[in-house]
Amino acid sequence: MDVKTIGVIGAGTMGRGIAYVSALGGYETVLEDVRPQVLEEAMAWMRKAFEQGVERGKVSAEAAAQAIARVRTVGRVEEAADVDLVIEAAPEEMELKIELFGMFDKFTRAETILATNTSSLSISEMAAVTQRPERCVGMHFFNPVQKMRLIELVRAAGTSEETLAACREVGRRMGKEMVTVRESPGFITSRVNALIGNEAFTMLEAGIASAEDIDKALKLGLNHPMGPFELVDLVGLDVRLSILEYLHKTLGEKYRPSPLLRQYVKEGRLGRKVGRGVYDYRKEKKAEA
Ligand SMILES: NC(=O)c1ccc[n+]([C@@H]2O[C@H](COP(=O)([O-])OP(=O)(O)OC[C@H]3O[C@@H](n4cnc5c(N)ncnc54)[C@H](O)[C@@H]3O)[C@@H](O)[C@H]2O)c1
Repeated sequence: MDVKTIGVIGAGTMGRGIAYVSALGGYETVLEDVRPQVLEEAMAWMRKAFEQGVERGKVSAEAAAQAIARVRTVGRVEEAADVDLVIEAAPEEMELKIELFGMFDKFTRAETILATNTSSLSISEMAAVTQRPERCVGMHFFNPVQKMRLIELVRAAGTSEETLAACREVGRRMGKEMVTVRESPGFITSRVNALIGNEAFTMLEAGIASAEDIDKALKLGLNHPMGPFELVDLVGLDVRLSILEYLHKTLGEKYRPSPLLRQYVKEGRLGRKVGRGVYDYRKEKKAEA
């Protein structure tokens, strides 16, 4: 199937980035969120990201202007339904995603592909509430979407080859590289990353090293581009905790979330998005643990 229009559901951290690469890839893009203010922020973010792209010579001024003109914002799923591909980027909660997949199945054309950007949840479970499991698939983007090169394409129990091929072409036009993975909790990247991040919290809690030194060790010694705490502050500690809780439930004890991570989430230290996570971004970056 030839995808020409894309509906992105949820305009938060990921949704707005997906809408950006979608518009830049030449797709008519409808961005939906239940909160009008988030949509305004997402559009302002996108305009700024395009400006920066032009300044850095990554995008021509003309391509940026054309791309931004391809994005439309709406406040209800029904209004984003007349598309060839839906990419869901709402919060990581199975009940919500199941409800949304039910709505997509009801409001979109029968041939529309339904993709989710879930980091870890079962796509087969979402597909089960639809009449088109062969058209349900995972498209796992990375944060920040406009910079990160990978999409994990996740094959759920019923996903067809045709659906995967259509998504590969979309990813290619968005300028991404792809890997295909059979559905399994956390896929490739979240599973490995959750374990590394959790171990870093366990070491921090045990007083083995400071947050700065753990980050520095992984960057300079293991060649990671970011330290595990810098990364979790970007991803969101709440997002990471819910991934670990799910991996713990499905894959076993080795994924039990560190008590320190739980404590930070309870304290509202959710990462950069609130100005404070492992590090405090309200002043200059500074570890508090
Ligand atoms: N943050 C990351 O680094 C990252 C990376 C890869 C994948 N993901 C996955 O992407 C998804 C979104 O994560 P995020 O970090 O962008 O979350 P976020 O909280 O930043 O954004 C979610 C958005 O969805 C909106 N929303 C809530 N209910 C909705 C509904 N019923 N309909 C439409 N919109 C609704 C919220 O208003 C919010 O703006 C999650 O499944 C997450 O696991 C996140």
